[in-house]
This record gives sequence, structure tokens and C-alpha cells, in this order.
Amino acid sequence: MASRSSSSGLAAFNVVALLVLCGCGWPATTEAHTQFGAYNKTCPQAEEIVFREMTAILAKSPDLAGPLLRLFSVDCFVGGCEGSILLNSTANNTAEKDSPLNKGLRGFDVVDSIKAKLEVACPGVVSCSDVLALAARDSVRLTKGPYIPITTGREDGNRSSAADVASNTPKPGATVTDLIALFARFNLTAKDLAVLSGAHTIGKAHCSAFSPRLYNFSNNASSDPTLDANYKATLRGQCKAGDIATLVDLDPSSGTIFDLGYYRDVAASRGLLSTDAALLLDADTRAYVLRQANATATDDFFADFAASFYNMSKIGAITHHKGEIRRQCSVVNPPSASSSATLTTIAAHALLLAISLFTVFALALAL
Ligand code: HEM
Repeated sequence: MASRSSSSGLAAFNVVALLVLCGCGWPATTEAHTQFGAYNKTCPQAEEIVFREMTAILAKSPDLAGPLLRLFSVDCFVGGCEGSILLNSTANNTAEKDSPLNKGLRGFDVVDSIKAKLEVACPGVVSCSDVLALAARDSVRLTKGPYIPITTGREDGNRSSAADVASNTPKPGATVTDLIALFARFNLTAKDLAVLSGAHTIGKAHCSAFSPRLYNFSNNASSDPTLDANYKATLRGQCKAGDIATLVDLDPSSGTIFDLGYYRDVAASRGLLSTDAALLLDADTRAYVLRQANATATDDFFADFAASFYNMSKIGAITHHKGEIRRQCSVVNPPSASSSATLTTIAAHALLLAISLFTVFALALAL
């Protein structure tokens, strides 16, 4: 009996040893997983490098916090948080970034420069989608918002099509019902919508994004009657009719500080975008806006924002070698780089398998 149980214990040990040593792992789950500190072993300084670079970049150009935060959200909503927004168009393909809906996006060169630093420190290890996620969360932190712990280990996708953008992006003039429905498709709630819209406490919008509210509203009204009259006059001063290029603060009271200013603006009919103002037209989102507009401290909003940002950061992440670690964020890896990486992985697995078999035989002989 004793010998049978010890030999079955040994067999179980061997199977475990084999699985662990060969790197085959446990049976794969169907769900993709990212994890906290995914680079702790492979590039321990990764998150610190991103934070250091973002600190230097925003010290020089504080206005870049908004673009980086927005880039990440736009990436996540179209095909998941897999870096597809960073890819350039090619001769045969118009990429997401060249969709007319994305023409206002900024900050691509910041991502490229951070990625270049990471490639020097840990070549081929940190994905572009993680660089984007980390840069976005650091944008929040560096504008005096909350520190948001996020998981990493996303891989980069290789599909980016402008044709995917319209159906996954909030349209200009979308109603709050449209926005809630869009968020629901990504498992995000009406609360997530109200909370993540709070990102508009930093950053800017082009006049084109809201000028219909000033000059060309509807058949019955030349301008949006729900927009505060003084604010409307100020905006008309900043954006003359036909101006599509000028950038205007989304939160005029404190456009570079992550605070409650956005909710105070929206509650006072000074939400810049019609989709900001629309939050007042649903009972749940309205209640959230009014609660934060009247709050005396940022604690609740910050905790909510960290939670909703985390939910957003999980959308459609690619893991388990289903994607790649792009060397350059704007182009997919050349086929040779991917196949040599695959060969290296196969060779490493073969070596580990040989070591584990040797260990199993050595243990069996010793017993
Ligand atoms: C509710 C859905 C949303 C709509 C309809 C929306 C719409 C817009 C629009 C139209 C702009 C101005 C773009 C331009 O003119 O260049 C903008 C800017 C911005 N959005 Fe959103 N957005 C939404 C959700 C989000 C989310 C979820 C985030 C991040 C968590 C975000 C962060 C930003 C930031 C930071 C800017 C400023 C960008 C800059 O300074 O260049 N937005 N958004």
C-alpha cells in the first residue's frame, strides 16, 4: 500500500514537475489573462521607465496628457486594448488612425519614443499595447489624478482597419442611450460611462467637435439652447464659424488638472461636447454627474475612475502568444522577426523538456 501510494505520489510529482519545468503550464483557459507586474521577471524596470519618460514629457508639454489618455481609450474600443490604433496604414490597408473619426488623435510620437527607450532596456519584451496602457494611467497620475494599478502582459494585434472604427466609436451627437448601449457592448455600465467621461477633465477638443452646437444646431435653433449663454459666447470667440482646427479645453476651469471640474462644468450646462451634456439626460448618469459636481473631495471619483479605467483596460486584451511584441509600434513585425522569435521559443521549450525528462529519470533512479 505504502509503496503504491508513494509511487502514485511520485507519478503526480513527475507530472507536475514536467508541466512546470517544460513551461507547458496548466490546461489553457479560454479567457485571455493579463496580470499585475507581468514584466517583473522579464523587464522589471518597464513600468518605471514609462513613468520616468512620461514625467519628463509632461514636464515639457503638459498638454500631452489628454492625447495619451484618449489614445488608450480609442484603442480599447476598437478591437480591444491591443495597440491597433498605433499601426500605420499600408499600401493595401487604411488603418484605424486614418479613419475620419480619429483624425484629431495626437501623441503617437510620445508612444514611439517611450517604446524606443524600452527597446534599449529590454529588447522585444514590452508590448506597444502595454506602453499605451501605462502611458495613459501615468497621464492621469501626473495630472494629479489617482494612481491606477493595472495589469500588463497584453500582446499586440496585427489587424487595424479604418472600417472597424465607426461601429465601435461614440459618434458625434450620439444620445446618452446610444452611449450606454455602446459601453454595454464592452461590458461597461452606465456608471462606467459617467465615470470615464470624467477623463474630459483634462485635454482639448477641436472646434469641429462641437461647433454645430454654436452655429448650426438644428432646423429650429442656430445654436444649442441647453448650452450656458456666457460659455457659448466665449466658445464663439475661440472658434469662429468654419474653424475646425483650433483646440479648446474640455474643462475650461482646469484643463490640465485631473479633478472634479468636468462634472461641475457639465452640471452647470458648460459641458463642451454634446455627449458630455447628454449625461444629464439619463437618470443614472445625471445622478452621478450631480453627485460629483457637489462633492467636496475627489476620493469617490478617483476610486471610481480607477475601477472603470481598469475595466476598460481589460477589453479584448490579447495574450498567450496570440499576438506579438511589436518592435516598432507603428508597423507589424517583419515575418522573419516573428518566425525567428517562434523558433527561439520552440528551441527554449525543447531544451526545458529535455531538462525536465532528465530530472524525472534522475528522481526515478534515486528512488
Ligand atoms: C463617452 C464616450 C466618449 C465620447 C463621445 C468622447 C468624445 C471625445 C471627443 C469628440 C473628443 C475631442 C477630440 C478632438 O476634437 O480632437 C475627446 C477628447 C478626449 N477624450 Fe473623449 N470621448 C469619450 C470617452 C472617453 C474616454 C472613455 C476617455 C478616457 C478614459 C476619453 C478621454 C478623452 C481625452 C483625455 C480627450 C482630450 C484629448 C486631447 O487633448 O487631445 N474620452 N473625446
